[in-house]
Amino acid sequence: MSDAPVDLRSDTLTRPTAAMRRVMAEAEVGDDCYREDPTARALEERVAELFGKPAALFMPSGTMANQCALQVHCRHGEEVVVGEGAHCFYFEGGAGGAFAGVQFVPAGRGGLFDVADLEAAVKPQAYYLPRTALVALENTHNLAGGVVFPQAQVVAIAERARELGLALHLDGARIWNAHVATGLSLAELAAPFDTLSVCFSKGLGAPIGSVLLGSQEQIAHALRVRRMFGGALRQVGVLCAAMLYALDHHLEALSEDHANAQRLAQGVAGLPGVRLDPASVQTNIVAFELERLSAADFVAGAAAEGVLLGAVGVRRVRAVTHRDVDAAAIDRALGSLSRVPPF
Ligand SMILES: Cc1ncc(COP(=O)(O)O)c(C=O)c1O
Repeated sequence: MSDAPVDLRSDTLTRPTAAMRRVMAEAEVGDDCYREDPTARALEERVAELFGKPAALFMPSGTMANQCALQVHCRHGEEVVVGEGAHCFYFEGGAGGAFAGVQFVPAGRGGLFDVADLEAAVKPQAYYLPRTALVALENTHNLAGGVVFPQAQVVAIAERARELGLALHLDGARIWNAHVATGLSLAELAAPFDTLSVCFSKGLGAPIGSVLLGSQEQIAHALRVRRMFGGALRQVGVLCAAMLYALDHHLEALSEDHANAQRLAQGVAGLPGVRLDPASVQTNIVAFELERLSAADFVAGAAAEGVLLGAVGVRRVRAVTHRDVDAAAIDRALGSLSRVPPF
């Protein structure tokens, strides 16, 4: 039995497998700043086709993909409606304000929102008010605990946003998890949006890499913005080969991460001092509240027992399942967590 810590801090911790490293080593490459990397072109064409969008662009990170999208859709001084805790608002170091010059308006509570929340967040048109330009959704929603944005709600928000003249962006870093959890196709999930960003460096297990999707014009614009961020790279095919490999070999296996999250949730829900309804766990993220202990103390206690978790609020803890943690490791983690005192 391994005594290495069970690391549930994030699905970004996944490491490339030996087989993935082999395809990276053998990738055909060229200079992507000249748009001459054949593996990058193959990835972009494949992903555009999968999501049913006219164009796609490799991005070094999900953050850069979201930030390029903000600049494609918005001018300085404009507003972006987001769900509470949206990654592009909360976790991107203030880049939206610093570089795109936008302000964020959180809609609804807890990450997801509906048409009424959207209407409440959009400013009336007046020269003295900021202009609302964009609605950005996140699916699955990270901080909300990996929940899937219900598709009927997404479609209704998109219809209303169009009537209001707003553009739509999806942070689809974990759209793969939504696809596996709902059975909806990637193209169906993407259809309501003008642009979307998708990540390969999380549950899919590639070391680096995201893709931004949209129209030909939007992606041509994003190509320039990516360059401005210093994100135009050279022989990027070594990374794109890993991303293509992940699509072929790791996508459907996300259902194992979901099963492991459910296994973890069932066990954690039984711990004293923890508030968690396992039915609320839809994908690979298990977020729970503590009744007495601070999240920081619980996370420190868990680490001392060999389980690494994240504190995502004063009393809120997050555990994320991923390819590098199997069911046996989840059982080991549950045994260790039962030794963390709940006071
Ligand atoms: C929902 C969501 N969007 C975007 C990102 C950004 O990805 P990256 O870390 O590649 O910048 C993350 C990363 O965790 C995320 O969870």
